[in-house]
Amino acid sequence: MDDLDRLTNSLLAEVATTDSAAAVEDLRVAALGKKGSITGLMKTLGAMDAEERKAKGQAFNAAKDRISAALDARKTQLGQREMDARLSFERVDVTLPVRAESQGRIHPVSQVTEEITAIFADMGFKVAEGPDIEDDWHNFTALNIPPNHPARQMHDTFYLPPKDTGETILLRTHTSPVQIRHMMSGPPPHRIIAPGRTYRCDSDMTHTPMFHQVEGLVIDRNIHMGHLKGCLEEFTRAIFGIPDLRYRLRPSHFPFTEPSAEMDIGCSRKGGVLKIGEGDDWLEILGCGMVHPKVLEAAGIDPNEWQGFAFGMGIDRIAMLKYGIPDLRAFFEADVRWLRHYGFSALDVPTLSGGLVR
Ligand code: PHE
Repeated sequence: MDDLDRLTNSLLAEVATTDSAAAVEDLRVAALGKKGSITGLMKTLGAMDAEERKAKGQAFNAAKDRISAALDARKTQLGQREMDARLSFERVDVTLPVRAESQGRIHPVSQVTEEITAIFADMGFKVAEGPDIEDDWHNFTALNIPPNHPARQMHDTFYLPPKDTGETILLRTHTSPVQIRHMMSGPPPHRIIAPGRTYRCDSDMTHTPMFHQVEGLVIDRNIHMGHLKGCLEEFTRAIFGIPDLRYRLRPSHFPFTEPSAEMDIGCSRKGGVLKIGEGDDWLEILGCGMVHPKVLEAAGIDPNEWQGFAFGMGIDRIAMLKYGIPDLRAFFEADVRWLRHYGFSALDVPTLSGGLVR
């Protein structure tokens, strides 16, 4: 065995004992670097005659290639080993129970919105949205509330400075404009709910200038009041978790529905405490009716072919009733102590299979 073989074998043996990517690189420098042992041999070629240089040159190059290939293979192997070690070290057991240490809370309005959405989604409703800043036409005119109609005063509207075009813009006073926007977005049939913020210049124990409503809209060929009644019966019983909840539809008036009704649910007010589903008193919870033909027309739908119902209710009020929260104003004071008391765990996702009620 000559010097080259000996050196090659000892280098290959060293490669096999390296235990890290860094050690492989050190060895590469020691063998093939500028001052490396193989490089050193290469340098001796210059002093040889042509014959010898040719023979040795080939042998040196072959040795260099073998060592270089061995270093590369070792590097890959060690890399893989490091990755395996890391993967097993960093493994997460997804079956472990979650630690209940989160401090954040879901606001009752968000929770109830989710609950309402889950119930209507189960009945085939989709969620639609519209802007908080509305124009006069969507909020009023298209809903059969023409200029100078007394309902405009009743809504205590927050008006914004008019647009450059002179168009009146405002903070929507109800979610009903989403009916119009949705009907204009595509052909019927429609089956949507539209939860969101609404605004009226009003503030006391039970009113805040910003509050939440959810609108419902169903448009199809043969929809009638019976469908409206069944839908709302199903909803109120599911949201309050009372299977035999008493309710009544009382004739009412809205410019955008005909006939119109308000829905009351059974309650007791004994001793000044409000209890849903008990006693023989009534509590109004929503407005509803058959969509007025003029509203369908405004939204480009032929009232001779299509008809349907709509309803609108206050989400905050449902939250107050369902979870026994006395003062509406506290909802929007962003008091962490209040939220810790009345809020919900982020993991407590409302589902129908979970019975919705906690
Ligand atoms: N928009 C009405 C309100 O804010 C509620 C409503 C919606 C009534 C849809 C009937 C139909 O009071």
